[in-house]
Amino acid sequence: MSLLRLNNLCVHYGPIVGIKDISLEVHSGEIIALLGANGAGKTTTLQCISGLLKQKKGEIVFKGTPIQNLPTHTRVQMGLSQSPEGRMVFPHMTVKENLILGAFTQKSKYLSHDMEKVFHLFPRLEERIHHMASLLSGGEQQMLAIGRALMARSELLLLDEPSLGISPLLMASIFQKLKELNANDGLTLLIAEQNAHSILKMAHRGYVLENGEVIKTAPASDLLHDPVIKEAYLGGISH
Ligand SMILES: Nc1ncnc2c1ncn2[C@@H]1O[C@H](COP(=O)(O)OP(=O)(O)OP(=O)(O)O)[C@@H](O)[C@H]1O
Ligand SMILES: [Mg+2]
Repeated sequence: MSLLRLNNLCVHYGPIVGIKDISLEVHSGEIIALLGANGAGKTTTLQCISGLLKQKKGEIVFKGTPIQNLPTHTRVQMGLSQSPEGRMVFPHMTVKENLILGAFTQKSKYLSHDMEKVFHLFPRLEERIHHMASLLSGGEQQMLAIGRALMARSELLLLDEPSLGISPLLMASIFQKLKELNANDGLTLLIAEQNAHSILKMAHRGYVLENGEVIKTAPASDLLHDPVIKEAYLGGISH
């Protein structure tokens, strides 16, 4: 079943077109890659889905309900969370406080259970539970941002360039955790990445954006072997 559907979504920044006529679909249980170069419209699309940006035109349907006019916190309550580009953890709060804030839409009885789950997934966060988020490394902040979104008990998690600024080794480990969350907990993921190779290896399907439009959509394995995609986003690597 379709968990999220975008119908002809358009966002403008004043006179500048951010995205135009983006239509895409995410099914429950899928991992979807959103690919594209700098300025292609990945962040704009994700921010519009989470409600941080307002569309000029088009429809966003989540679990059968049009949500394009609902505030962000209502979308979070419905099960849709975003871990934004640049991560944006609250720098002057501790790891624990950041996680508690992530659970603001949830009943407090879930709090300790859900925090245990995040610590099980990212033991490093438990070691740094009382540290200020600003003191964490880039990779740890990424874990915290994902952990915070998990505290919201999301069904659909939007991730904007999770590999930005962290080592390939750590990224591989975070991608592995995301894969586990998808396989074991049924978490659906929509992940924007310029770093196409690793994301396509784990995703089920992908959408390729160029100049604010979807130019291609296909199963991830097809995109991995597509000569045009290889040339543009995979640095010509052959696999
Ligand atoms: N705040 C803004 N004001 C004006 N134009 C913007 C703004 N944010 C984005 N844009 C423009 O909208 C288009 C899409 O940008 P967006 O940030 O969504 O791309 P992106 O795919 O996320 O790129 P990147 O990989 O660099 O993060 C670009 O042309 C960009 O210049
Ligand atoms: Mg971006």
